[in-house]
Amino acid sequence: MKKLTSVSDVKNLQEIIKKALQIKENPLSETEKGKGKTIGLVFLNSSLRTRLSSQIAAQNLGLNVLTLNAAQEAWNLEFADGAVMNGDTVEHIKDAIEVLNQYCDIIAVRCFAGMKVKEDDVNESILSQFEQHAKVPVISLESATRHPLQSLADCITIIENWDEERKPKVVLTWAPHIKPIAHAVGNSFAEWMQEMDVELVIANPEGYDLDKNFTKEVKVIHDQDEALKDADFIYVKNWSSFNDYAAMPEVKENWMLTNEKLANTNQAKVMHCLPVRRNVELSDEVMDGENSIIYQQAKNRIFSAQAVFSEILDELN
Ligand code: CP
Repeated sequence: MKKLTSVSDVKNLQEIIKKALQIKENPLSETEKGKGKTIGLVFLNSSLRTRLSSQIAAQNLGLNVLTLNAAQEAWNLEFADGAVMNGDTVEHIKDAIEVLNQYCDIIAVRCFAGMKVKEDDVNESILSQFEQHAKVPVISLESATRHPLQSLADCITIIENWDEERKPKVVLTWAPHIKPIAHAVGNSFAEWMQEMDVELVIANPEGYDLDKNFTKEVKVIHDQDEALKDADFIYVKNWSSFNDYAAMPEVKENWMLTNEKLANTNQAKVMHCLPVRRNVELSDEVMDGENSIIYQQAKNRIFSAQAVFSEILDELN
C-alpha cells in the first residue's frame, strides 16, 4: 500500500482484514519493522480514538511517533494559495508539509470538513494539499469526506461477529444530533461496505441523503422501522444534510435507537464510531446493552491502523 485516503488505496480488502486479525492475535509480531522510521500524526481537529490507537499501532511496529495537535500547539496555518499573509495566519500549510517531509517517513493527518463551503469539503481542500506537497506516504486520520481507518476497523468488527453462510444485512442508520455533523463516517462506511460481502441498506430521514458518489446504488429507505427489519448489524451515525449543505431539516419521527426498535431486528449487533452523545444519538439501554459491539469496534482501531502502517512500511523498506 502506497497511501491510505480511501478504500481505493487498498489492493485486497479481505487480505488486509486477515492481516489485522493476525495482528490482533499477536500485536508485537513486527516490533522491528518500523525501527529507525518516523510517523508524524498531525491533528487539525480533536481526537481520542484515532490519536491513541494510531500511537499504539505505531509503537507496536517500532516506529518513532511525532504527534502534533496543530490547532493548539502549532502556528496558525494558512490554507489559501497565493494568500497575502498579513492577518492572523503565520505559517502556510505548504511550508508546514515541506518541513514535515524533512522529519517524517509517513505523514498521517486529520482534517475535518469545514462545513461551510460545500465545494471546499467535497474537493478535500486540506487533504489534497497534503497529497500534493508530501513526499512521503499520506494516511488520512479522517478527512472532509472519508474516515478510512475507522471503516477498516468497522469491517474487521463485522467479520469477527459473523459466522453464518449468508450475507449479513447491515443497516447504516441516521441518528439525531444537536448540531450539523460532517458526512465522512457515513460516506466512508457506505463505500467500504460496498466492497464487503454484505447486504447494505441506508436509513435516513427525507432531506438527509448522503452524497450519491458514495452511496451509488445502495438502497436508501426513509422509514427507519422498515429498514431495521431483520437487520444483523446496525451502524448508528448522525450526519447533516448534504444537498442543503450542513443544514438540519426538521425530523418529526424519533430516530434514536432503542431496545423497542432492536426487537424488530435479527438480534442486531449495534455499532457506532464514537464519540456518541448518549440519549441523543443512542439510548443508554442500547449503548450499555448486550447487542452493543461498540467498544470492540473501538479496540479494533488499533489493528486497523497497525495493518495499514505495516503495509506502508513494506513499501518503504
Ligand atoms: N471514531 C473516531 O475517529 O474517534 P476520535 O474522533 O476520538 O478519534
